[in-house]
Formats: sequence, structure tokens, C-alpha cells
Amino acid sequence: MSEQLIISGETKQERYEALLPQIEAVVEGEPDLIANMANVAAMLHETFGFWWTGFYRVEGQELVLGPFQGPMACTRIKKGRGVCGTAWAEAQTQVVPDVDQFPGHIACSSASRSEIVVPIFKEGEVIAVLDIDSAQLGTFDQTDRRYLEQVVEMLP
Ligand code: SME
Repeated sequence: MSEQLIISGETKQERYEALLPQIEAVVEGEPDLIANMANVAAMLHETFGFWWTGFYRVEGQELVLGPFQGPMACTRIKKGRGVCGTAWAEAQTQVVPDVDQFPGHIACSSASRSEIVVPIFKEGEVIAVLDIDSAQLGTFDQTDRRYLEQVVEMLP
């Protein structure tokens, strides 16, 4: 596998289409979830220039910070709290165009303006979430949701 990420495409959709096979090539054959989370966070972050891109893992009744790219972040989030805890509790992707309009949003960074959180399932249970923050309003839509849900399905 090449260790050089090829970032191509003008539109968001073209970029995801170029990125997904590269993510698949990196994670396939690697059974370690943390190693794969680290590379996926790096590849998404580099491709799109997000503010913060990373994972929280379910540990008991909390989410615990996992591999990420970007500024330091909150370490633990309770189930049902914030956008991440809601994605976990509801087992559904949360697309938040304006974090100030999301009740209970946890501001790890005041620069974050919009956010998407995608739950990761194993045997029907949420075991982690992918959380991406943007410094602009309205960055994420159903296109991000569709592709990011495919990305997390590639994780072991
Ligand atoms: N804003 C998130 C917390 C995690 S940070 O954005 C990295 C939330 O409300 O769950």
C-alpha cells in the first residue's frame, strides 16, 4: 500500500469517491481498531481540512477520547450528553449545521461551528463514534452522512 494520500476532486462527492478506496486499502488486512481509527482520522482531516476529526470509544457509561487530529479535546462524555452522547444514545448520525442551536452541545473548542457525529456499530451495539467539527457553519449534509457511514463500516 502507498503511504501517500491522493487528494483529488473539486466537489465534496468527488473527494469522498477518491478517498473511500484509499481508506479501504489502508484498513483492510489491519485488525487493530485503534490503528485504523488513527489513519482514518488523519486521512479525513487532511482531505477536507476540518477543524477537528476523531473518535470517541464507548467505555461503560461514557465515551472516552480516541485517536484524533486537531486541537486537544474533552476526554470523557456521558451517554446522552452533547452531540456525541446523543449519537450514541439514539444510535443515529447527528448532522448539526449550527452547534449553538443544539441543546447541550459540548463546546470543547469555541471555534467549532458545525458538527457531524456518526455511530460505529459492532453486533448491533454502538462501540464508538466518529466526530467531525468544522469552524464554519453548515459544513455537513446528507452527502457527508452517506459517505462517513460507509467509512465507519470499513472499521473492524
Ligand atoms: N462537541 C462535541 C464534543 C466533542 S468535541 O467537539 C471534539 C459534543 O457536543 O458531543
